[in-house]
Amino acid sequence: MDGAFGRTQRMADAINLAQKFAKFSDHWSPKVVAEMNDYQFKLVKLQGNFVWHDHADTDEVFLVIAGEMKIEFRDRTVTLTKGEMVVITKGVEHRPHAESECQAMLIEPRGVVNTGETDSEFTAANDVWV
Ligand code: NI
Repeated sequence: MDGAFGRTQRMADAINLAQKFAKFSDHWSPKVVAEMNDYQFKLVKLQGNFVWHDHADTDEVFLVIAGEMKIEFRDRTVTLTKGEMVVITKGVEHRPHAESECQAMLIEPRGVVNTGETDSEFTAANDVWV
C-alpha cells in the first residue's frame, strides 16, 4: 500500500538492501530507497568507468554494500570495499570506477544530479524509486 509519502512502503518498514538491489540491473543509475529530511538514500550498481564530475553545492557519500570500487581524485585514488565509505567534499572532481560490478549506497540531498556539473550520457533521471 502507499505510505504517507506516496511510496509503496511505510516509513518505519525495514528496507532490505539485497531485495532492493535484486530489482534492477542497470549500471550508473541510482535508485532511491528512502528519504530522511531533505536527504536521499540511493542504491547504485557500478561497473566500468564513470565520468569526471563534481557537485558544486553539496558533499556526497559513497558506502559500499558489496564488491569493490575506486574513486579517482585528481591527486589520488581511494579504494572502497564492502563496509567502507567516503565523503566527497563539494566541488572536488572525482570519477568512480569499478573493475567488476559493485553495489553501493549514495547519500546526498534530494535533487543532486549523478554527473554533477558534467553533461554526459551517464546523466541519470532523479527520484527513481525502487
Ligand atoms: Ni559524484
